[in-house]
Amino acid sequence: MREILADWTQDVPESEIRRLLKNKTKYYLAGGLPGNLPTKVFPQILRELAEYYDSDEQRVINEFQYGQTAGWPGLRKVLAERLVKKDKLNCISGAEDWEKVLISTGSQQAVYLALDILINPGDIVVTPSPAYLGFVTTAVKVGGHVVTAPTDNEGLIPEYVEDTIIKAEKKFGRKVKILYVVEDSDNPKGTTLPVKRREQLYDIAERHDVIVICDAAYKEMQFEDRKLSMKTLDKDNERVIYTSTSSKEAAPLRIGYTILPDYLFTEAEKSKGYLDLCTPTLTQRVAEIYYDKHIDTELPKIIQKYKEQKDAAYNGLLETFPEGDFTNPSGGFFIWYQPKGEKAYTFDVRKFNQEVLMPNEVLVVPGAAFYPPSGHSYDPEARDIEPLKVIIGGMRIGYSFVSKELIDVGVRKLGNLLKENL
Ligand SMILES: Cc1ncc(COP(=O)(O)O)c(C=O)c1O
Repeated sequence: MREILADWTQDVPESEIRRLLKNKTKYYLAGGLPGNLPTKVFPQILRELAEYYDSDEQRVINEFQYGQTAGWPGLRKVLAERLVKKDKLNCISGAEDWEKVLISTGSQQAVYLALDILINPGDIVVTPSPAYLGFVTTAVKVGGHVVTAPTDNEGLIPEYVEDTIIKAEKKFGRKVKILYVVEDSDNPKGTTLPVKRREQLYDIAERHDVIVICDAAYKEMQFEDRKLSMKTLDKDNERVIYTSTSSKEAAPLRIGYTILPDYLFTEAEKSKGYLDLCTPTLTQRVAEIYYDKHIDTELPKIIQKYKEQKDAAYNGLLETFPEGDFTNPSGGFFIWYQPKGEKAYTFDVRKFNQEVLMPNEVLVVPGAAFYPPSGHSYDPEARDIEPLKVIIGGMRIGYSFVSKELIDVGVRKLGNLLKENL
């Protein structure tokens, strides 16, 4: 019966993170589940909404309906204003430009829409190595050809990105269409791009006429002052798709929001119309009130907790891990560790997770999860495009979900087990 299935079902595996979510361990360092949420605020908003709608049946019928595919206007206004005030975007002017904000069901849907409207089979997409698996795998699912570019502890290295574009275009005889960038606290490495690199990457995209998908999923979860996004360089709104989400600070809502160049907006809206018709109105109403009235009082408390959890993980790592490369994130949910030298490519963290970590109640996400099922890599030594090179000895250590006390014990256990097994 398998032959009746579409080809992609055979080429694309289940997301490793989704699969690992089924395993619960005491020291859970795997999926990036938000462990700190404004728990009091959501019931309060729901009560406010109940009161508001209670006496007006017609309003309920009018507003809790199929809504606009691009989203509830009230929410789009609040977000347009926030994008200008907080993120300093200058390609929109504020609430009055609300029609330029596309609401999606999670920002994963926005990622999907962007790829869906841009990729023809074989089109080249350049991503960091390693990169958010929901992006790289989706790029392959829609027919894209992923070429990974090397990263260091500050994220993508502009010089190598440019060479990746040049060499990939030469080797495969077609243009690179998309560059995927997570500027703040990337998933999985936790790296934050310095402003200079953001500017350089934007210039490279302009020079080579590449669309940038700038994924700002962790921009609200910063322990330090936020840096300006490269979207602020895109004053005419022509080159950068800028997408973000409620999921890290208000997980239950599943609201993504995106600014796209106008000619892409209409296509993305069309594509979304065929995917889900519209995002649920109730969650959009909750999000509207949350972003309008609560986020800025709630966020500092939440960020402080994540920072303490990060410190527990980082200190445990410093004191117990064998020699390797690791990051010290200034925001987000993840630290990356990989052993030194060749072991980064030979130590099998998938096996280590199953056979050693899980029996010890620890779980991480293996580095291999953050690579496409097929594709190529830029090799900085050869200065050329090579077969896909996967850092299977790397691992993502998530500090977002369990308490700092459990993180402290779990990361130290992980370090000691690594020492015994590497
Ligand atoms: C970098 C990045 N982008 C996008 C997403 C998708 O987020 P959501 O669909 O929950 O908004 C995630 C989720 O983990 C992520 O880490």
